Amino acid sequence: MAGQPAAAVVFLVLFALAVTGESRLMRHTNRIALFDPTTMCKDATQFQKVCLKVAKASGATSPNALVQANVEAAITTTQQVSKQVEKLMNSSSQDYQGIMGSALSACRESYDSTLDALQQSQALLQNRGSHDDLMTQLSAASTFVTTCKDSLGEVPEASYPPEKVHTLLHKLVSNTLDLGAKLNDHNEKH
Ligand SMILES: *[C@@H]1O[C@H](CO)[C@@H](O)[C@H](O)[C@H]1NC(C)=O
Repeated sequence: MAGQPAAAVVFLVLFALAVTGESRLMRHTNRIALFDPTTMCKDATQFQKVCLKVAKASGATSPNALVQANVEAAITTTQQVSKQVEKLMNSSSQDYQGIMGSALSACRESYDSTLDALQQSQALLQNRGSHDDLMTQLSAASTFVTTCKDSLGEVPEASYPPEKVHTLLHKLVSNTLDLGAKLNDHNEKH
């Protein structure tokens, strides 16, 4: 019987350690701990304004839901920017031929890969899949967005018409990567 109080102490210490990791994300009230997306956005992300907007629009009530909302916003934005690029590629204007045409094609491909990585991230979040796999997909999405920007570096004279949407996408993807890193095994189903 002497072992039981000791085991209880060990359990309490482990529990306290587990809770401490999450506590910065929580706002404690008398009986329940409410998730505060504002705190998570401010603590974790580089582009806080964008994160707060997504948080407010989604009404996310858990870290996982906040990451999912950001991934969804990134997916929608990728589809928008991809469509803009497709329109330019379809236009007969000389402005979008030649080297600019090649840059547009490269970006279009990057956005397709970004979309794929984001959709896989979304599935991993929904199914509480492996955190390592999630981070791999979110990093890939971030890399593909950068790949497009690198291709555009070859056409310094030309401005990139979808610049505004591209910049928003860059911020959203950067935030999803930062937020995803804050999820831990606690959020996974084993
Ligand atoms: C671009 O052209 C293709 C082939 O004609 C067409 O299917 C597609 O809808 C066009 N895209 C846009 C955004 O206009």
